[in-house]
Amino acid sequence: MHSLITLATLIVAASAARPFLNEPNTGLEEYLGAGFPVGKLPNLTDIRGIPDFDFAARNYLNASSYSFYRTGAAGEWSYRNNLEAFSRVRWRPQVLNDVHSLASTLPAPFFIAPAARAGLANDAAESNLVKAAYAGDILYIPAIYATLSIEQIAAVKPVNGSQILFQQLYAAANLTAVQNSLDRAKAAGSKAIVFTIDAPATSTRHRAARYGLGNANSDTATLTWALYAQLHNMTSLPIILKGTTTVDDVHKANSVGAPAIYVSNYGGGQLDGSPSPLEICLEIYESDPTLFQKTEIYADSGVRYGTDVLKLLSLGVRAVGLGRQFLYANAYGVAGVTHLIELLKTEIAADTANAGIQDVRKIQKERVNWNPLTTNGFRGEKEGVGAG
Ligand SMILES: Cc1cc2nc3c(=O)[nH]c(=O)nc-3n(C[C@H](O)[C@H](O)[C@H](O)COP(=O)(O)O)c2cc1C
Ligand SMILES: *[C@@H]1O[C@H](CO)[C@@H](O)[C@H](O)[C@H]1NC(C)=O
Ligand SMILES: *[C@@H]1O[C@H](CO)[C@@H](O)[C@H](O)[C@H]1NC(C)=O
Ligand SMILES: *[C@@H]1O[C@H](CO)[C@@H](O)[C@H](O)[C@H]1NC(C)=O
Ligand SMILES: *[C@@H]1O[C@H](CO)[C@@H](O)[C@H](O)[C@H]1NC(C)=O
Ligand SMILES: *[C@@H]1O[C@H](CO)[C@@H](O)[C@H](O)[C@H]1NC(C)=O
Repeated sequence: MHSLITLATLIVAASAARPFLNEPNTGLEEYLGAGFPVGKLPNLTDIRGIPDFDFAARNYLNASSYSFYRTGAAGEWSYRNNLEAFSRVRWRPQVLNDVHSLASTLPAPFFIAPAARAGLANDAAESNLVKAAYAGDILYIPAIYATLSIEQIAAVKPVNGSQILFQQLYAAANLTAVQNSLDRAKAAGSKAIVFTIDAPATSTRHRAARYGLGNANSDTATLTWALYAQLHNMTSLPIILKGTTTVDDVHKANSVGAPAIYVSNYGGGQLDGSPSPLEICLEIYESDPTLFQKTEIYADSGVRYGTDVLKLLSLGVRAVGLGRQFLYANAYGVAGVTHLIELLKTEIAADTANAGIQDVRKIQKERVNWNPLTTNGFRGEKEGVGAG
């Protein structure tokens, strides 16, 4: 016990000594040079990694728009932990594994998460996300507090109806308003509803508050399991619950027949101190790995690299969302969003091969060394390890 506590303390000390990087250095700023003007977007061809979009948006957008996109809740401990959790676990690559048969034709295992006000970065707003998602063959989930309306967004889709969109909604105390939104989404051709359940109240977001920007959702709603049951009577569309952060809630959602469960801590934007998707999904796996088969589990929050996606997939997650990075990429319009999709697809393909994985849909959990999360993460604390 003593040695474990000592070890945990050393790990905490080691990570405390390493300052948080808003985005890891990709050499972009050195490349552009100190004279690169504020208010200008770097050339898209110079965006080599997804975190480069953060620099680009920070440089190009005004402070209030960037802050609205970037802000996390309170001390942003969850925001940072979302990113850092991925770096705490390491691969156990299986080398000399024949990875030639790797299926490159599979639909990409990632999607555009619902995020409000795409219009702050580009006048065409969500249209760019619809078009790029279609071209890149990925799922897009428009937010109800989008700049464009449900109908305007649907109108951008190809007329043959071959593009799939899910519609994000918030519960509201006014069920007539909820019914209206459900009906509009159905009429507009949405294939599923994504109900956000982790924002029953406004949140403490200092960066955005500074510019007078509150949450898009300020309706303090009471979403209960009873209301969830009632919602099934209000629409024929499948209803996915977004914002699950505990194993107990995944069990509960599964037991009431949720067709899919979306693990998320809102990118650290809602309850500071909520765990990262990697920690949550590991806990789900260790509680009952068959939950990933019994229901479809999606996840988001903190995803910036192909390896982040693969680590979540290795636990059984079906698809992984990105929020802020798509908002930032949208500063470049369709071309930027398309570039992000291509970068992530390229990373996923290369990383899959580098990790010796033959099928991106069947990554074994054993390909990752989870020890750092189980001995030093929140699960360790539960077991009385690392409490110091
Ligand atoms: C500016 C911003 C607006 C968001 N708006 C919504 C929203 O309207 N509805 C929702 O369910 N989630 C919303 N989210 C959360 C995202 O769906 C997603 O969970 C989060 O961005 C994932 O973390 P990431 O930004 O690190 O990828 C928003 C996130 C951001 C950053
Ligand atoms: C961006 O591209 C243009 C056109 O190719 C080029 O003239 C310019 O130097 C590039 N800017 C930077 C910062 O590389
Ligand atoms: C910042 O940019 C947004 C989007 O263009 C605009 O709506 C807003 O008024 C701007 N804010 C300031 C303070 O200039
Ligand atoms: C749907 O229309 C788009 C153009 O809007 C076209 O590129 C695509 O091939 C069509 N898909 C099908 C399945 O017909
Ligand atoms: C509830 O929503 C409906 C539809 O948007 C609206 O007409 C009605 O006034 C709302 N009721 C209350 C009490 O706010
Ligand atoms: C759903 O509708 C059915 C049939 O009308 C009804 O029996 C049931 O009580 C409703 N459930 C809820 C939770 O409203």
